[in-house]
Amino acid sequence: MASGRVEPAFCRGSHTMVVPMLMFKQNRDRLCERLRKNSKVPKGAIVVLQGGESFTRHCSDHEPVFRQESYFHWMFGVEESDFYGALEVDTGKAILFPPLLPDEYAVWMGKLLTEEDFRVRYEVDECHFQTKISDVLKAKSPSMLLTLHGLNTDSSKHSREAAFDGISEFTVNNELLHPEIAECRVFKSDLELEVLRYTNRISSEAHKSVMRNVRPGMFEYQLESLFHHYCYFQGGLRNLSYTCICGSGDNGSVLHYGHAGAPNSKQLDNGDMCLLDMGGEYYCYASDITCSYPCNGKFTDKQKGIYNAVLKASRAVMAAIKPGVSWVAMHQLAERVQLEELRSQGLVQGDVDEMMKVNLGAIFMPHGLGHFMGIDTHDVGGYPEGTERIDQPGLRSLRTVRNLDHRMVITIEPGIYFINTLLDQALANPDQARFMCREVVDTYRGFGGVRIEDDIAVTEDGMECLTVVPRTVEEIEELMAEGRRGQQVPLPQETEKMVI
Ligand code: GLY
Ligand code: MN
Ligand code: MN
Repeated sequence: MASGRVEPAFCRGSHTMVVPMLMFKQNRDRLCERLRKNSKVPKGAIVVLQGGESFTRHCSDHEPVFRQESYFHWMFGVEESDFYGALEVDTGKAILFPPLLPDEYAVWMGKLLTEEDFRVRYEVDECHFQTKISDVLKAKSPSMLLTLHGLNTDSSKHSREAAFDGISEFTVNNELLHPEIAECRVFKSDLELEVLRYTNRISSEAHKSVMRNVRPGMFEYQLESLFHHYCYFQGGLRNLSYTCICGSGDNGSVLHYGHAGAPNSKQLDNGDMCLLDMGGEYYCYASDITCSYPCNGKFTDKQKGIYNAVLKASRAVMAAIKPGVSWVAMHQLAERVQLEELRSQGLVQGDVDEMMKVNLGAIFMPHGLGHFMGIDTHDVGGYPEGTERIDQPGLRSLRTVRNLDHRMVITIEPGIYFINTLLDQALANPDQARFMCREVVDTYRGFGGVRIEDDIAVTEDGMECLTVVPRTVEEIEELMAEGRRGQQVPLPQETEKMVI
């Protein structure tokens, strides 16, 4: 009979992935190694992070499901809110400080865990309730506390710096940690890559389940619902990585469709192109996948033309990716391929180099080619010190301008959209209008958009595609036809209109 202790791990049942706490120990060791190499970090320094806080819906007492702050998750994998954590840089020793909860918690929320319960569960060296944080840290006589303060270049928000009663008695530095830990997060360990493969596999299967079940007449939100159900039921992915974008018809051209003001509520018309950008998250690790296809399962020639133009751009980028390649060059490669394809389909005319000079690519693809992905969908580290955004249409939306390197995970998401505001802008700008075939372009108004988004990991000599969904027109049509031969998920019964 097998014996020995069971490794502490996160798991949502034998059909889901087992993530060992070792992953976070490895992350902490990587951080310590970097910090020890930094000559500004003195011996005896201790990192102190404050985890995410629980919050309520406005002034009510309703508490939405908590999701850990991303840096804290990367270091400790703690699922609960309101923790602190510390890391001794010299020794790699990890210490957790859970909140000391009132006895009443046991009545309303469940069993109160002891310090030792948390220590074992998260496989750290020490655990002390938070009331002791100042005394515990003082006893270690740290030369310096390293706290986290830095800009997230995607959101333009700052990370929240740890603060606790008594911190003023320590020497605190809030500048050294942020660039080092953000840089660690850019490069994924083998275990992190395994988790990202898992979120991608489940989310890819969820996209396929939607493809099989979608029919004209359904509502966009029903596709969102099918996706989420598959992710959670089959894979234990309780959270999605971001709000689902389920744009049908013209809504496919609304880049951030799906928000409260545009809540995936349109009914699918026969012939609508759908742009479905949906990704599930497991243990705070993201996926970010977009599939585009007609809701009736059969591409028209026009839909096929635009779809294949985007696919060609995606595959050209994938073929070029390896360590050392510039992400800016990849964005420009995608733009170039798409413009060439649009020219061959009669939407634009003239020399593609000249079109690139006047940023015509950004009329059809105003967003960047992709972004780092990890614990956050738009993961950190895109603009380390010394790098700057390029102030040009399209390029200014890039979430990184770095050269790619082994172990980076990034999305490749070219797209072509027919956005009236941008088309009108190009037609009114003589520099751009001379390339636009107005009569042809006008017939694409209302088409919506096509985006093809895959998550990839850069390997030593190329890349690995983590996303596994049908991508060619033939593969998509075949899966959708198969879905139509099988049993469809039951639709809600029509009822008398419920007017109140
Ligand atoms: N789903 C957000 C993005 O693709 O970046
Ligand atoms: Mn993305
Ligand atoms: Mn996306």
